[in-house]
Amino acid sequence: MSDTQEILQQDFDHLWHPFTQMRLWPGEPPLVIERAEGNYLIDSEGRRYFDGVSSLWVTVHGHNHPAIKRAISEQLERLDHSTLLGLTHPLAARLAAELARVCPGQLNKAFYSESGSTAVEIALKIAYQYWQQSGRPEKKTFVALGEAYHGDTIGAVSVGGIELFHQVYGPLLFPVHRLPQPFCRRCPLGLTHPACGLACAEALEPILAEHGDEICGLIVEPRVQGAAGIIVQPEGYVRRLWEICRKHDVLFIADEVATGFGRTGSLFSCEQEGVEPDLMCLGKGITGGVLPLAATMATDRVYEAFLGEFDEFKTFFHGHTYTGNPLACAAALASLELMEKNQVVAGTAPVIAHFAQGLAKIAALDHVVQVRRHGLMAAVELSADKATDTSYEPGERMGHRVIMAARNHGVIIRPLGDSVVLMPPLSSTTQDIDLLLGALGRAIAEVTEA
Ligand SMILES: Cc1ncc(COP(=O)(O)O)c(C=O)c1O
Repeated sequence: MSDTQEILQQDFDHLWHPFTQMRLWPGEPPLVIERAEGNYLIDSEGRRYFDGVSSLWVTVHGHNHPAIKRAISEQLERLDHSTLLGLTHPLAARLAAELARVCPGQLNKAFYSESGSTAVEIALKIAYQYWQQSGRPEKKTFVALGEAYHGDTIGAVSVGGIELFHQVYGPLLFPVHRLPQPFCRRCPLGLTHPACGLACAEALEPILAEHGDEICGLIVEPRVQGAAGIIVQPEGYVRRLWEICRKHDVLFIADEVATGFGRTGSLFSCEQEGVEPDLMCLGKGITGGVLPLAATMATDRVYEAFLGEFDEFKTFFHGHTYTGNPLACAAALASLELMEKNQVVAGTAPVIAHFAQGLAKIAALDHVVQVRRHGLMAAVELSADKATDTSYEPGERMGHRVIMAARNHGVIIRPLGDSVVLMPPLSSTTQDIDLLLGALGRAIAEVTEA
């Protein structure tokens, strides 16, 4: 048995993969990724693939960046792990100060955890408890968007709105007010038709006018709803939501887990509309995509509601074992330093422009009914018949077939149903983008013409 076969046998016998129908898994056949170099992953047979999903939307500077590796190994010589319950350590403090410096508005306090889902869970609990301790205990519910995705823990699923993922857990979830998402797939004017989008933002006003006294917060993925299929909001949409929240004294929670750290062309997507959230969830790219770390940022106003005497019990009774792990903090600090030193966000502008141009050609292909993009996040939606926009049957798994075909052209990407998601690392060159889009174009032609 070769090494690869042995690994696969162990995998098939014992490993349960996320978001995967395990009965189909052994037939795929799976790639065994052994190494990475820059923007490329290398499998156990030595084949190189461009990492077209940034290893699930996290890679900022490319894999195995020497500065991040050095920061982690230097930290490992000093301190591997120590709790933040009752103790502190230098890098947790330094990173909190750095995050407060780079985040918009008054987000001066960082609460660490390990995943985007926990960052969201923490934001929801803080928002709820904030009002309990601010003399408005009746403010208990949340507003969230249709087709929102905020993670897979029960609170995050409650505010999530993707039926396929979330419906089965219905009885376990708390009810939320649902705002229609600002995008009509069939709109002939396209997804960023401002009038429709802004009308959707106005739909928040009557909800808050009627129920604002019972609503503690609104949670939104600003500018782009990622897992919904890269749904791009029209300009002004997030700002309008923020203004309405402020008018009705409802906390504004920005989930920047996917959009943060330069993914949409600015460090945070809120900044594009001058929005200053009360709470902001960070994850994914925070460590450059190297180690699991997340942070929930809170304003001074929110934080101060948790201050009191010991026996007032205003404490935020929440914390995870690996909260603020020093190695993860070292990676995050090194990544932030690289971002500033190399002006990474500004440097993505020409790559984003090149990406947009290449995607315009993909949009012209038969069976591509729509391309949605903001910054370096994009989705290419497939259709059985472009003229009538007729969907493929789910059992045909066209998105899946396209991404499998793209592997033969040296690219790893992932589908969301019949949308193919493209999420190149921020360190991608224009040549990388050409490889990605060339492979995608060929894969679409091969699969749809077969
Ligand atoms: C907007 C958003 N929030 C939260 C999450 C959950 O993050 P994690 O998978 O790290 O729990 C994701 C993951 O894709 C996301 O896109």
